[in-house]
Amino acid sequence: MPHSPPLILDAPIALYEPPANSLLKWIGNKQRFAASIAAAFPRRFGTYIEPFIGSGAVLATVAPREGIAGDTYAPLMEIWTALRENPTMLKRWYADRWQAYHTGDPRERYEELKSAFNARPNGADFVFLCRACYGGVVRFRKADGYMSTPRGPHKPIAPVRFNSRVEEWSSRVQTTTFLLQDYKRTLREACAGDLAYCDPPYVYTQRILYGAQSFDFRELLTEIARCKRRGVFVALSIDGQKRSGQEHLELDLPAGLFEREILLAGGPSMLKRFQSRGACLDHERVSDRLLLTY
Ligand SMILES: C[S@@+](CC[C@H](N)C(=O)[O-])C[C@H]1O[C@@H](n2cnc3c(N)ncnc32)[C@H](O)[C@@H]1O
Repeated sequence: MPHSPPLILDAPIALYEPPANSLLKWIGNKQRFAASIAAAFPRRFGTYIEPFIGSGAVLATVAPREGIAGDTYAPLMEIWTALRENPTMLKRWYADRWQAYHTGDPRERYEELKSAFNARPNGADFVFLCRACYGGVVRFRKADGYMSTPRGPHKPIAPVRFNSRVEEWSSRVQTTTFLLQDYKRTLREACAGDLAYCDPPYVYTQRILYGAQSFDFRELLTEIARCKRRGVFVALSIDGQKRSGQEHLELDLPAGLFEREILLAGGPSMLKRFQSRGACLDHERVSDRLLLTY
């Protein structure tokens, strides 16, 4: 029998204000849920630790006094480092590619940029590609990790709009350290009183979405248990649905590890929207589960 902590529907009153818009497009981003997730965090905590930072929606919402954020996807971490240390360079990365994209046939320009990126994955190309690709759903080929998403039909935001997002986001991450590393190393930085928010790859879909890494959910639970024993507060997001549809994902959670579960309601799934090529998917609403060790 899977262990079930007490279930609470939706989170308490939000205490944090998320940024007005997303900086990056990244599948599984928590933009819609960020304020509700952050509202479930303890009132007081030491360092804020986010070991699967992705596009950082929750980090930017919390804007911690002291933070540590990690991820294993190198181009993302280059963007995060630039956002903190050299926002002017990040703006230039985007503007240069936006300009090139609008010179000639955007389809050709997009494919050229994607090829250059696939030959040498890097943050400068990735920041534009993730905003220009179809549905913002960055996908990688299983065999070789090649980014395969075609161009989207939408207009990528103009540099002036991107720049104001950079300014807003940059100010929120000035006291966060960004590390290109596995989540276990990041979680091991956590001490008593710190807060770790974990948003791991989707259990069913992570291979095509985040490259060819393998991910063992049980190992994550072991690391969370270690954190809890050290007095770290841990919040864990899990994808509320199986890829195939409405079924609630049953995970075999160790008894006593989580004290509470919060069910958060969200809008239509970005991934489903991509798979259905823009069809109306109001019935395919995503819910998100948040498990808390405190
Ligand atoms: C669901 S996404 C996080 C989304 C994030 N909350 C957001 O708002 O965009 C999961 C992230 O885990 C990263 N990842 C996958 N395996 C990892 C590992 N072993 N250690 C650290 N990060 C990993 C992926 O690159 C991806 O960015």
